[in-house]
Amino acid sequence: LKIDRVVVKLSGSIFKSKVDASDLEPFIELFSKLRRGGLKLAVVAGGGENARRYIRAARRLGADESTLDEIGIEVSRLNAKLILTGISELAYPSIPTSLSEVAGAFEEKGLVIAGGLHPGQSTNAVACLIAERVKADLFVNGTDVDGVYSKDPRVERGAERLSRVTTGRLREMLSKSVMGAGTYTLMDLVALSIIERSKIKTRVVICTPEALAKAVEGEDVGTLITPG
Ligand code: UTP
Repeated sequence: LKIDRVVVKLSGSIFKSKVDASDLEPFIELFSKLRRGGLKLAVVAGGGENARRYIRAARRLGADESTLDEIGIEVSRLNAKLILTGISELAYPSIPTSLSEVAGAFEEKGLVIAGGLHPGQSTNAVACLIAERVKADLFVNGTDVDGVYSKDPRVERGAERLSRVTTGRLREMLSKSVMGAGTYTLMDLVALSIIERSKIKTRVVICTPEALAKAVEGEDVGTLITPG
């Protein structure tokens, strides 16, 4: 089965607060290459370090939670804008602000770069919603770990990478907060629910251009999330 409609989530971790264009260029080259090869692609940028910094500062200044979410969204859109700047001749020319705008842009232009959309969710959830809306063949979730682990590999020893995991098992792991709050949220429950309800083929990989490319090529990298 040929993959020709893909959603890629770019981990916020690739957008350092000391932002460096050379970190982003290989991603931009990959997306250009994929689009030129005929793939339709939506890319969602995470908020990363700057989002966390801005949210922390705004919280200290007294902002309420939905305002903090809006700040996170703005930062993810700024990150998206950087990617767009490097790829503007091929992509939809602005950062969309609604799901329907993303869907229109995806069909029309075949390449759209987005950030967050609505308060109360993550950019992972946004990527899932886009995958659902555009009927993507594949959602590649680029994160700061190279797949789903049996335990949080950054805090526990003996964690094993799972090459496949069912949505049910993942839900169980999330609810037991094996992936503790704020520490290992490579998939939140909103995102997982969307993957479940629409059986979105999802692969979790480390967010490098090499791993993203392999995932799009259908290679067995990272962790495949399967229905069940
Ligand atoms: P992210 O979900 O991108 O956080 O958005 P992150 O930590 O960078 O995630 P990874 O590393 O890419 O997985 C940052 C914040 O922006 C707000 C939320 O507050 C989120 O924590 N946000 C983002 C929204 O409220 N709605 C959105 O649609 C997206």
